[in-house]
Order: sequence, then C-alpha cells, then structure tokens
Amino acid sequence: MKVRKAVIPVAGLGTRFLPASKAIPKEMLTVVDRPTIQYIVEEVVASGIEQVILVTSAGKAAIENHFDYDFELDTVLARKNKQGLVDELRHVSNLIDVVSVRQKKPLGLGHAIWSARNVVGDEPFLVLLGDDLVQAETPCCKQMLNLFEELQSPIVAIQRVPLEETFQYGIIEGQAVRDRLTKVDHMIEKPAPGTTDSNMAIIGRYLLTPEIFDLLEKTTPGHGGEIQLTDALMALSNKRGMYAYEFEGTRYDAGDKLGYLKAIVAFAARHKTLGPAFCRYLKEVAAGL
Ligand code: G1P
Repeated sequence: MKVRKAVIPVAGLGTRFLPASKAIPKEMLTVVDRPTIQYIVEEVVASGIEQVILVTSAGKAAIENHFDYDFELDTVLARKNKQGLVDELRHVSNLIDVVSVRQKKPLGLGHAIWSARNVVGDEPFLVLLGDDLVQAETPCCKQMLNLFEELQSPIVAIQRVPLEETFQYGIIEGQAVRDRLTKVDHMIEKPAPGTTDSNMAIIGRYLLTPEIFDLLEKTTPGHGGEIQLTDALMALSNKRGMYAYEFEGTRYDAGDKLGYLKAIVAFAARHKTLGPAFCRYLKEVAAGL
C-alpha cells in the first residue's frame, strides 16, 4: 500500500528552548532562512508524500499560518512589484496539503500520534519529529519508503550514538540483517545509564502501520509518566515485526541549543547563495580563535 501521509507532532511546550520559545513555537525558530518545521515539511514533500498532519496544541497557530496562503501579504507584495517574494511565499503555501488535529492533553509523544488516528485512517504512514533535521542526498523519509516497499514492515530510523548518551533516546536492540538493517528484538525508552549495550538510537523518523493506534490506546504511562511511542512500538514489533534502519545522512538535534547551532552552521554552509561567503567567514572566525 502506498504511503501518502506524514504525521508531525508539534504540540510540545519546547521547554529546552526557553526563553526563545516562550511566545513563538520552537518549530518556528529559524535555521538560515526558514523555520525548522519547513525543513521537515520539505523532506516530506521531497519524499513524495501527499498530506501532512500536524498534531498541535494551543499557541501553535503560527505553524499553521506559515503554510497557509496569506492573501493580504500576497496582495501588498504584488502591488509593490516584489515578485520574488510573492513566488517564494506562494511556494511555501503550495508545498503540500496540511491539516491539523489537536492533542487535547499533554500526555506524551505516543498520545500525540494517537490523536492523529482518524485523519490517518487504515493505512501506513510516516512520523517525523520536528527536532530532528536530517541532511541527506536522498531524503531520510525517502530512504525509508524505498525500504518499506521491500520489507512491508514498520521501520524506525536509527543512528549510532556514544553509549554515555543512550539515556537520551529510545534505544533498540536486535539482530543485524545486512548493512544498515537490524531486525528489532527489543526497544527501551531512555534506558538508565549502564542498562543496555546497544548504541542504536531512534531518531525522529518512523514508518508505521495503522495497528499502532490500537496499541497506543492500550499503552500505559511509561518513562516520565508519559504515554511513550517507543512502548507502543515494542508491542507493534512483537505483533508484526519491525526493522531499524541506519539511514544515510547527518542528523542534527535542533531541539537542543548546541545541536541547533550546529544545524545552522551546516545548513548555512551548504546554502545555494549564502554558502560560499558563509564558509569564507567561518574560516576567518576559526583563524581568529
Ligand atoms: C523522542 C522519542 C525517543 C527518540 C527521540 C529522537 O524523545 O521518545 O525515543 O529517540 O525523540 O529525537 P524526545 O527527544 O522527544 O525526548
């Protein structure tokens, strides 16, 4: 079955980014020339997905507005002959069909995904977490979709992390199938230090089948007292098998202050028009340190 939909949970409070995220959603913080959420949506579009489902909460209207058509702005810019800007804004509002659902209570990532069940319906779908920006020749989601065609099983994207950092992630344990592919045996959300030998960390890209919704409904609060997606994934893995895929590319944790800075530098360095001048500037800065 073709994967057509992508769920992007954006309901979180963004406490790691306070005070910057007090009055604006953290997903609207800029990396070079666009908000981080636009990179996520562009990855979805470049992967051939047809619809984005945002899971939002109060105070997140700016994200919906960003992908909407702004008639007044369009008219004013057109009148001032700013055709370049008109085109750019129309491009953003025409990127993809965006719908949103509300997560009514902050009960965790698993609950956020469950909130999208009626819009997703009975078909496989992607989940992308807005904090994880991935730079890759083939978009990370596209790599997963290609693999799904072959495996027809749920897939989580992973990256190897230092063992001392595993407590920050969902960690998978399993058996290598081939290069970059592992059959999942076990998953643990944010394991206490020293409790796993695995360094395979789930990053924010999942390709899921709709059975996950019933499993989420039965999932009781786990790590941090929240309904964890990882716990429902473990149940899904037991039910129909699951693969972990070490994607090709580089992931930046834009939900962390240092990761966010790294993302800005990496995306600026590769930017079509700003990149060359920015790289020259970086060399000057490095020489002066
Ligand atoms: C979430 C997931 C975790 C995953 C991580 C990737 O955690 O619960 O399993 O490894 O995203 O970014 P969060 O970072 O939202 O605490």
